[in-house]
Parts: sequence; C-alpha cells; structure tokens
Amino acid sequence: MTPSVRATSLRLPVLLAGFILAATPGLAQAQAASSTGVRLFNTQCKTCHGDKSTPAGPTLTGVVGAPIAGRKDYAYSAGLKAKGGTWTDASLDAYLAKPMAFAPGTRMMVAVPDANSRAAIVAYIKTLK
Ligand code: HEC
Repeated sequence: MTPSVRATSLRLPVLLAGFILAATPGLAQAQAASSTGVRLFNTQCKTCHGDKSTPAGPTLTGVVGAPIAGRKDYAYSAGLKAKGGTWTDASLDAYLAKPMAFAPGTRMMVAVPDANSRAAIVAYIKTLK
C-alpha cells in the first residue's frame, strides 16, 4: 500500500464520524461537556473529594439538591455551616468561582475561575451516584 492510499482509507471513517457529530450538535455538545467535566473533576477535585468523605473533603455524591454543609460524615468549617441553604447550580457556581467570598471561613481554597469549566464540573457532579 502506498502512503497516499493509506491516508485515503483513514480519512473516510474520520469524515463519517465528523459528519455524525455535526448532524447531532446536541449530542456532541453534551459529550464534550461531560468529558470535560470528568477530566476537570479528576484533575482538580478528586484528590480531596473521592467517593467517600475523608478529612480532606466531603464526598460530592448527591451534593446537588442537598443542604450546604449537610453531610453527617464530615466535619465542616464554621464558615460553610453558617451559610445555610441548598446546593443548586447557582450556589455551586458561586462557591466554585470564589469560595471565600461565598462562605467566608470555608476551608476549601480551590477556585475555578472559568465559567464554562464550572458548568462542566457541576454537570459532571450531578452524574455521581
Ligand atoms: C485541597 C482539597 C480540595 C480540593 C482540591 C477541592 N475541594 Fe471542595 N472542599 C474541600 C474542603 C476541605 C471542603 C469543606 C469546606 C468547609 O468545611 O468549609 C470542601 C467542600 C466542598 C463543597 C461543599 C460540599 C458540602 O457537602 O456542602 C463542594 C460543593 C466542593 N467542595 C466542590 C469542589 C469542587 C467541584 C472541586 C474541584 C473544582 C473541589 N471542591 C476541590 C477541599 C477541597
């Protein structure tokens, strides 16, 4: 096989895959968002937020819709406990943007400055079971 023949035979499946993704923008977008969310969560959150609460951080399984600082198996800071309310898309976004501004005295120092990254992380957290 000459190199040019090989290149042509590779190009067709790639073009087809591209066409299928382009034809279903919603699906492509959702997949892009979730793979970004997994990657960001695994690299920026998971060391402290694994599937079980540890002294490093509470587990985030089921956190969307749950009370802020509401887990019985984690000793939260007074700052986060004083906040009250429920974790929603909006409150998670605000906390991740500026943890110390959202809940002065919180022990979580990690912020996610990029809004798209925050949205992808929150979307991924919702899938944790
Ligand atoms: C260096 C460790 C560390 C990292 C990394 C970290 N966190 Fe945290 N996180 C904490 C700690 C500690 C708390 C408890 C804060 C407190 O009690 O004030 C917390 C609390 C939280 C809470 C509140 C949970 C609840 O039950 O009320 C959320 C939500 C959260 N983190 C999300 C994230 C996300 C999303 C990331 C990744 C972008 C992340 N955290 C990265 C340490 C970390």
